[in-house]
Amino acid sequence: MKIFHINASTRGEESQSLAVAERLIAKLRAAPGATLDRLDLFDGSLPAFDANAVGAKMALFTGATATAAQKATWAKVEAVFKRFAAADVYVVNTPLWNNGIPYVLKQFIDLVTQPGWTFGFDPASGYSGLMTGKRAFVVHASGVYHEGIRPNFGSDFATPYLADWFEFIGVSELEQIHVAPTVVNGDYASTKAKAIARAEALVE
Ligand SMILES: Cc1cc2nc3c(=O)[nH]c(=O)nc-3n(C[C@H](O)[C@H](O)[C@H](O)COP(=O)(O)O)c2cc1C
Repeated sequence: MKIFHINASTRGEESQSLAVAERLIAKLRAAPGATLDRLDLFDGSLPAFDANAVGAKMALFTGATATAAQKATWAKVEAVFKRFAAADVYVVNTPLWNNGIPYVLKQFIDLVTQPGWTFGFDPASGYSGLMTGKRAFVVHASGVYHEGIRPNFGSDFATPYLADWFEFIGVSELEQIHVAPTVVNGDYASTKAKAIARAEALVE
């Protein structure tokens, strides 16, 4: 089992989504032969999905010849996809930022979500995910928002968005775990303990 861990928090040891994800990964790694590849989205290594990347993508669509700069950028994009495609199990940990995902996680999604890589398209039947036979766990942390919260305390567009994206690319076995609220919470220790217990039980 090859595990690919995508860390979308900047906060290192302070990160609550990372702390829960690490407990989940420790359980996964107990399986014989399990290996781990970790991508820290804020380490600056992700290529930008910029004019060269879009140019290379459009050249593929239209059959035009990509420029040298476009080809060089596309090779970097493909290297990210190959790391992603090599895995059997995904673990994503992400903070809730402004009711959604942090921009680096969207950047990663824009890099790997390419026709012929993660999805196919047929004019008659539409889209089909190509990342079949894999499963994913997402650990979300939010400072205020939590399930059942009153109106005027924010929203969570990250959970439905990631459910939709994993389904779109063909990963239909998805579990999402929430550790929340991490800030406005008089008993965060028990909130965190419950999230870890749920994460470990899901892996079990
Ligand atoms: C830029 C930014 C935006 C945030 N937006 C929200 C939000 O919309 N809703 C919320 O409940 N918490 C929000 N928070 C709080 C984080 O979700 C919270 O601190 C969470 O624990 C961060 O995840 P981490 O502990 O894994 O780093 C925000 C924090 C930052 C830095």
